[in-house]
Amino acid sequence: MTDALLVAIDQGTTSTRSILYDTGLVPRATAQQELPQHFPSPGWVEHEPEDIWAGTLATLRQVLSGVDAAEVAGIGITNQRETTLLWDRATGRALHRAIVWQDRRTAEHCARLAAEGAGDLIAARTGLLPDPYFSATKLAWMLDAVPGARAAAERGALCFGTVDSFLLFRLTGGRVHATDAANAARTLLFDIHRGAWDEELLRLFGIPAALLPEVRDNVSAFGTTEPALLGAAIPVRGMAGDQQAAMMGQACFAPGMVKSTYGTGCFALVNTGAVAVASRNRLLTTIAWQLEGRRAYALEGAIFTAGAALQWLRDGLGIISHASEADGLARAADPAQSVHLVPAFTGLGAPHWDAAARAAIFGLTRGTGRAEIVRAALESVAFQTRDLIEAMEADMAAAGASGAPGRVLRVDGGMVASDWTMQFLSDLLGAPVDRPAVMETTALGAAWLAGVGAGLTAPPGGTASHWRLDRRFQPVMERAEADRRQAGWRDALRRTLGAAP
Ligand code: G3P
Repeated sequence: MTDALLVAIDQGTTSTRSILYDTGLVPRATAQQELPQHFPSPGWVEHEPEDIWAGTLATLRQVLSGVDAAEVAGIGITNQRETTLLWDRATGRALHRAIVWQDRRTAEHCARLAAEGAGDLIAARTGLLPDPYFSATKLAWMLDAVPGARAAAERGALCFGTVDSFLLFRLTGGRVHATDAANAARTLLFDIHRGAWDEELLRLFGIPAALLPEVRDNVSAFGTTEPALLGAAIPVRGMAGDQQAAMMGQACFAPGMVKSTYGTGCFALVNTGAVAVASRNRLLTTIAWQLEGRRAYALEGAIFTAGAALQWLRDGLGIISHASEADGLARAADPAQSVHLVPAFTGLGAPHWDAAARAAIFGLTRGTGRAEIVRAALESVAFQTRDLIEAMEADMAAAGASGAPGRVLRVDGGMVASDWTMQFLSDLLGAPVDRPAVMETTALGAAWLAGVGAGLTAPPGGTASHWRLDRRFQPVMERAEADRRQAGWRDALRRTLGAAP
């Protein structure tokens, strides 16, 4: 088996990637394509399903060029979560553009559900909240907006799926309509305790059961690719939403281990083991993975703006020309100034869930320049992370769950290249921050799943030899100073929340 290869498909919000690995999970080839974004109305975000498919196929073919596709022992799929697709079971054609996780068009529907008191049922079954972030209200919107869709759905002529399901359906030539438990857990339709679609929730959201994919373990024989597509029938052996895959890539296999991924947004997840810890602090309870029928759970904090704040400094304000300039400016900023940027550009996620909040900058004086504003943007990511970690610690302590999320934080994603931000994060947390040698943890997690499915890599409890440390950031700031700074952030945050209509 030494020649065997593994392939990860990482279909993210802004790009699609395929990575070819050897069985030691060392990357051999990478291909990437940008994914065009569509904003048909304020707050609406859509992707063209054919772009998602074309990008996947093109990048797969690119990494497989020059190798014998028959040597690929397995494909792992990881994906932007919650993004919702509806397609024709017979033709595979989508009935509407994909509605992306960031899309807020169903905010009113969610507010109505919350006002009607559906929040408790939703939280008890799904671990989530009635928020447009998740799939169910997006799917309901499509069924109402596309003429004839609801009747066709009742007849069993349509398929609903998140991106994993859609890609699996296309890759298998329409033979398999399935998803994995971790992706299903993000739909608002799945009982995370029973591991099954929930009929009461289907009624609540008006979703016909005939639309739903079969839910499987994250490692499963999901089907084989249509031979004409890639030159061989390659088995798809693993699937997981991208944040769950990042947990696996970060080898956060023991309860209490926590990772935080900094991309467009920031998603921090702590492993809570076999216990689904209910949050008292408006974090999400979700399935980390399901292997051999056994589920591991996570508490998740989702922040909508992290790296996107730097994009705004570059594209909106034009005060930097590349994200890599930010570190130098933050170092040069006046330490005496206390400027806070609250990056609520698209509202605030955990633990506030305030869709109406908007971004603000506080503490400006005549001496404030771009360095202080850039520093405030970097700091905002660390302040938000500390808020999440403290909420996790409180939730886990209240539940008597094992492990201590504050002990060490594993980080990944584009923003962790910023040494300044990682040091500040460690200072604020008063805990080590570990940056791994391989920062592509999401794809690594998908490849790991495929490897487990092929019997080539060790399941949790094994050696997790795919994780290696690049650098550990240790706290050097006095605790009192870190607390004083966090208090300054919370004051700015309070004023932002208070300013929301
Ligand atoms: O929940 C949304 C998340 O899965 C999106 O991740 O990396 O595609 O922005 P990303």
